[in-house]
Amino acid sequence: MIKSEVKAFFIKKYKNKPILVKAPGRVNLIGEHTDYNLGYVLPASIEKGIYFAAQKNNTSSIKIETFLTQPEQIIFALDSSHQPFTSFWGTYFKAILEILFEKNYPLIGFDCVFGGDIPIGAGLSSSAALCCGFIHALAELGDFEIARKDIALIAQRAEHKIGLNCGIMDQYAVLFGKKGNALFLDCKDLSHEYVPINFKGYSWVLINSNITHNLALDTEYNKRRNSCELVVGKVTKFKNNVHSLRDISFEDLKKIKGLVSPTDYKRAGYILAENARVIRMMDALEKGDAKQSGAILLEGHQAMSTEYEITTNELDLLVSTGQHLGGVMGSRMMGGGFGGCTINLIKTALMETHSKAILATYKKETGIDAEVYHLKIDDGVRTLAD
Ligand code: GLA
Repeated sequence: MIKSEVKAFFIKKYKNKPILVKAPGRVNLIGEHTDYNLGYVLPASIEKGIYFAAQKNNTSSIKIETFLTQPEQIIFALDSSHQPFTSFWGTYFKAILEILFEKNYPLIGFDCVFGGDIPIGAGLSSSAALCCGFIHALAELGDFEIARKDIALIAQRAEHKIGLNCGIMDQYAVLFGKKGNALFLDCKDLSHEYVPINFKGYSWVLINSNITHNLALDTEYNKRRNSCELVVGKVTKFKNNVHSLRDISFEDLKKIKGLVSPTDYKRAGYILAENARVIRMMDALEKGDAKQSGAILLEGHQAMSTEYEITTNELDLLVSTGQHLGGVMGSRMMGGGFGGCTINLIKTALMETHSKAILATYKKETGIDAEVYHLKIDDGVRTLAD
């Protein structure tokens, strides 16, 4: 088990008892790319996570080590200098520490080992888990408080520094997730509520296309955000109090149709409809209506494929294969796009056979081995008793 491996690695190396922090990954039922448009999202934190073992070292440096990818170690000095490093993970820690230095948090020296089982680049927010878990551990060791909301904002700023102009969904899901529930989050005022997601007789399953992506190195994600902001800019010319697509109706959008490119127009329309899908999904969950929920998933996927254009052929194949099997109520690509997992709602009695059938077709058509994960919703970032 990863948790005990991380702990054992720390004890062997530092001969000291560490604190243990778990930061989960996240799924998203619906509401994709709506967060940076100040809309609605419906994510949940999952059982897969990143574990941190850490302890004060009474020195003026922070030593971080991982066997998450390949073994490597990074050392930061508390005077904010650091040794050169090449690690991708290191860039996140560097960004976080820079923000914390700037905000004058009382940082102390500590040793830290981390590792986890969130597949990287699979749309399950391994980087949000990494950032939020690290900040939580660091505050606990330094004996100071950072409100969860502030942890989320610092972690989001770290992503922006690295190059991904992401919204706040991943960080909120990782920090505020609750076992058995999805988190309905209004990204405009950050108010949130919990909603149980279990449909009797149905199960949620993730299928990893094993097409990995790195949204921070790719520009496609940021281009979608730019399109949305451009449309907002046009609407502000004739309507007051418009700050995001959240303040715009389909009628407003129609008025600027000739003023923006067809692509930007289509993208903005997608966001408006996606917000409405989140509200409809809430309704389906409250009613326990698996059929309606599945239909919303499929509709969302179609829109991401043809309007927002963030899916891939492989993800489309996973979804359409499921659609032809009675018992798969619906599925869709999940996360920022261009790879990663689909989320599927399947009749529990047919879950094993149908997952296998989807994997077999996928392998036959693409030559790629996909993977199935049974979705388990767990609590958000926390310090573990042991
Ligand atoms: C990534 C980003 C999030 C969100 C999703 C798409 O995960 O980090 O902020 O925009 O993509 O919904």
